[in-house]
Amino acid sequence: MFLTHLHLTHFRNYQHLDLDFRAPLTLIQGRNAQGKSNLLDAIYYLATSKSSHARAEREVVGWSAETEPIPYTQIAGTVRKDREIHKLEVLFTPRNGDHNFTKQVRINGVSRRGIDLIGEMRVVLFLPEDVILVAGSPSDRRRYLDIALCQIERSYCQHLSRYQKVLAQRNSLLRNLREAGASSRDPGVISQLTFWDDQLVHHGAYVLARRYTFVRAMDPIGRARHARLSNEQEMLHLVYLPSFNVGNVSEADYRRLMDGDTTPDLIPLPDPPPTARGIEEIFRRKLDSRRDRELMAGNTLYGPHRDDMGFVVNGRDLRTYGSRGQQRTAALSLKLAEMETMIADTRETPLLLLDDVMSELDETRRGMLLEVLAGVEQAIVTTTDWSDFSPDFRKQAQLLRVEAGQIEEMKRE
Ligand SMILES: Nc1ncnc2c1ncn2[C@@H]1O[C@H](COP(=O)(O)OP(=O)(O)O)[C@@H](O)[C@H]1O
Ligand SMILES: [Mg+2]
Repeated sequence: MFLTHLHLTHFRNYQHLDLDFRAPLTLIQGRNAQGKSNLLDAIYYLATSKSSHARAEREVVGWSAETEPIPYTQIAGTVRKDREIHKLEVLFTPRNGDHNFTKQVRINGVSRRGIDLIGEMRVVLFLPEDVILVAGSPSDRRRYLDIALCQIERSYCQHLSRYQKVLAQRNSLLRNLREAGASSRDPGVISQLTFWDDQLVHHGAYVLARRYTFVRAMDPIGRARHARLSNEQEMLHLVYLPSFNVGNVSEADYRRLMDGDTTPDLIPLPDPPPTARGIEEIFRRKLDSRRDRELMAGNTLYGPHRDDMGFVVNGRDLRTYGSRGQQRTAALSLKLAEMETMIADTRETPLLLLDDVMSELDETRRGMLLEVLAGVEQAIVTTTDWSDFSPDFRKQAQLLRVEAGQIEEMKRE
């Protein structure tokens, strides 16, 4: 898979851009605040139908759009895939009644849903702030897993989106019931809840099981990467931590896991991994037996929206006990494992996007990333400083310079 062309109109600080990618490796240099991250964000958008960091659609609409009679933003990419050409396009136009924008997606000129875009072009993005995957909150990690899995598998994305809708409905019902002082013994209340439970359990079990197997597939790869990056000093285990015991460990061990006790006798977790069908059963029983609690909370207390993952090294979880350095190493190992797992699952190398990550890495880490770059069909890498890359390395790359949202092609040295 290869992104051959990118077109932007009024995307962040790019007023107009038409850019051809001509080599497996593109190196983009620019000082701070010139548009390096914005360019990668545009590509990320085409792959995931989301920004890597904006919270609202209007944040990506360039200020230059105000010069238009009707402000708009366009991101368009041409992707070559098994000799076929795919044209991907995202368009933002003002939404009536508020200050936000409506997003439209077109694939090969045909209007499609946002979800249809995902998986057309797969990317793995490396950022300096990836350390939040380890040091940040559970929701950062869930978001990460969801974006990776949506790119790998369309049906995951469909189950996830259904799950989120059902969850919102069920939560609003629970809130209303709480306010009405409903009793968990009232048959009317029970039948209202079980209506949503069926769907919640069905989609939730799929999401949970798929995340579980994904983390499990990444685990040995992450461990090997982490070992190499720590001079074989540290043995990393990636562990999926569901919000209820999915039946593969004893209740006592599950409690210990949740209390942050990850002494070596618990990790690795025993085989076989739980299946969606098995989880459905357990999830349903959990909800049945916790109606009181959920009515009191006015909220759904169990399910993949409450899950997390852990990064265990020598019996300690790096989320709480890791040094910043260990956390960075684990985050990098995770990303590398994600990439390899994606390749194994989709039989296609994703487009690698590296945003200014080289400068802060030591020799070992840099070496590993350069090796990885050499193994993919396409990578786009940004830097503030050409000298982060050896002359030999620069010789193989298409070299670009960005300044204030304008990109200029550099002469070969
Ligand atoms: N919606 C927007 N419209 C115009 N400019 C924007 C918008 N959003 C961000 N910018 C500008 O883009 C620049 C940052 O670009 P960025 O790609 O993050 O820089 P860097 O090269 O450091 O990665 C900043 O000057 C910021 O003000
Ligand atoms: Mg940047």
